[in-house]
Amino acid sequence: PHAGLADRHGRVATDLRVSLTDRCNLRCTYCMPAEGLDWLPSPTLLTDAEVVRLVGIAVGLLGVTEVRFTGGEPLLRRGLVDIVRAVAELEPRPQTMLTTNGIGLARLAAPLAEAGLDRVNVSLDTTDPARFKELTRRDRHADVVAGLAAAADAGLTPVKMNAVLLRGVNDNDAVPLLRFALERGYELRFIEQMPLDAGHTWRRSEMVTGAEILAQLRSAFTLEPDPVRRGGAPAETWLVDGHTGIGGRPARVGVIASVSSPFCGACDRTRLTADGAVRSCLFSQEETDLRGAMRSGASDNELADLWRKAMWAKPAGHGIDDPRFLQPARPMSAIGG
Ligand code: GTP
Ligand code: 5AD
Ligand code: SF4
Repeated sequence: PHAGLADRHGRVATDLRVSLTDRCNLRCTYCMPAEGLDWLPSPTLLTDAEVVRLVGIAVGLLGVTEVRFTGGEPLLRRGLVDIVRAVAELEPRPQTMLTTNGIGLARLAAPLAEAGLDRVNVSLDTTDPARFKELTRRDRHADVVAGLAAAADAGLTPVKMNAVLLRGVNDNDAVPLLRFALERGYELRFIEQMPLDAGHTWRRSEMVTGAEILAQLRSAFTLEPDPVRRGGAPAETWLVDGHTGIGGRPARVGVIASVSSPFCGACDRTRLTADGAVRSCLFSQEETDLRGAMRSGASDNELADLWRKAMWAKPAGHGIDDPRFLQPARPMSAIGG
């Protein structure tokens, strides 16, 4: 048996994404309804110590080298700073990252950096406060902008921004978003919308494609292919001609075209949900519960074996274009972006 998280398609997962809560303080229309969702009941949530134990197994026994905290909104997790500190102290030290909507980051960026967090990715879908309110159902645009600035000040760099474009809502925001990011030295990536919304309303024909976004950007900027190797990274990146990023790095923009140009063949991810299930893929129909095993006294090696088994069965790809495609039962907000 393999020591690491190998699958039957020849991939090895070294990037762990940990969802710390399924709750969120925004209500993005493409993600969840205004009233929110039926949140996971507290007794099923991993405690801080359980999260750290499982991440420790991933890092110490399963070859995971990068740990990204996600949600819902991970900044809502009370123990976040302590979890980050404990994970950053693991041996060998993993890279630690956070994907957040940015609300509360103005206050938390410095303590997180001090605790050992390396980087953050902040979601922001529009530069217009009124449109932000329409899209997220909350009037918090300024908080996100302040959160981004605090992240850069705290050295959580390169600060990356994630944007999802929705037809008829913010599909003309690509150029203003890139201007915003270039002015501040953030690396912006556009994400194609995937069928992971709680309402199951996603339609392929409605999706704003990566190609469309690139065409929009090219109306205002000159993009050159990025010589840096992509590896398992989901973003295809471009250098923005005539612009320099923070620290003299070339300014980049990325497109995460998960739907029109899947990168599943190079996927190096494994996921842990807030209630302690391993998901081998965003789109897995199956999960492996580690919480139950852990709470009934399983050893680290037994948990590592369950995790290996779960990953061995990782599907080859998301199959969104297959007529038999079924959206997973858990929405994006409960899996982690
Ligand atoms: P870095 O570039 O290293 O910062 O990481 P990242 O791009 O993986 O991080 P982030 O959490 O910001 O992910 C950006 C988006 O990529 C997510 O919100 C998802 O939409 C998409 N994504 C992440 N992981 C997967 C995956 O396993 N499969 C697919 N199809 N999309 C993913
Ligand atoms: N498809 C693609 N990205 C999504 N996100 C949320 N729902 C979807 C979806 N259905 C994005 C958020 C955030 C990141 C965590 O995932 O906008 O940037
Ligand atoms: Fe919250 Fe992210 Fe869903 Fe928006 S997309 S409601 S920020 S979990």
